[in-house]
Amino acid sequence: MALRLGDIAPDFQASTTIGDIHFHEFLGNSWGILFSHPADFTPVCTTELGRTASLAGEFARRNTKVVAVSVDDLESHKGWIQDINETQKVAVDFPIIADNDKVVANLYDMIHPNASETLTVRSLFIIGPDKKIKLTITYPASTGRNFTEVLRVLDSLQLSANYSVATPADWVPGEDVIVSLAVSTEEAEQKFPKGLTIVKPYLRYTPQPDLS
Ligand code: BEZ
Repeated sequence: MALRLGDIAPDFQASTTIGDIHFHEFLGNSWGILFSHPADFTPVCTTELGRTASLAGEFARRNTKVVAVSVDDLESHKGWIQDINETQKVAVDFPIIADNDKVVANLYDMIHPNASETLTVRSLFIIGPDKKIKLTITYPASTGRNFTEVLRVLDSLQLSANYSVATPADWVPGEDVIVSLAVSTEEAEQKFPKGLTIVKPYLRYTPQPDLS
């Protein structure tokens, strides 16, 4: 059965371009992103891994480790990294799992046989420090991911985890957030000293709480 939000992200051991890892141990107390690539030496995947490498500082700032997976072998991955570094002007230093036996692809239901019998789709999972799955996104092989959206969701998830808030449609960092329904207005007045805008008793905004 497909993985659902709130499920524990399956643990595994794997060979990667930075050595063997135990997935949960590698994540430690960090947030994690696990994302699949249909195949090495393909154009869209090359741009995605380049973009991921260029965002290393953004992921680090969010205490988030990224792990890529592709069903090709380690030698292939190592050769491909040279191409990615050359063409995308980056230095890929995050692990890419060699999943030629498709163990990880199957654990995470990344092969959708009606799309391709052999290649993974572009699955992406955000995993919290509690090892629970917080987001799943599935793109087709022909569409490169929107990494700005991935960072935006990470920001939203981390705000929700820390401050009892949610984020409205099309929210971007810096805009007002929504006070969780679990917080009474009386409590919210204490909790959010920057103030509340009460549109309806169930629709209450406050400035993003982690900004000064
Ligand atoms: C790509 O990354 O460009 C790609 C990979 C597999 C199928 C189609 C496109």
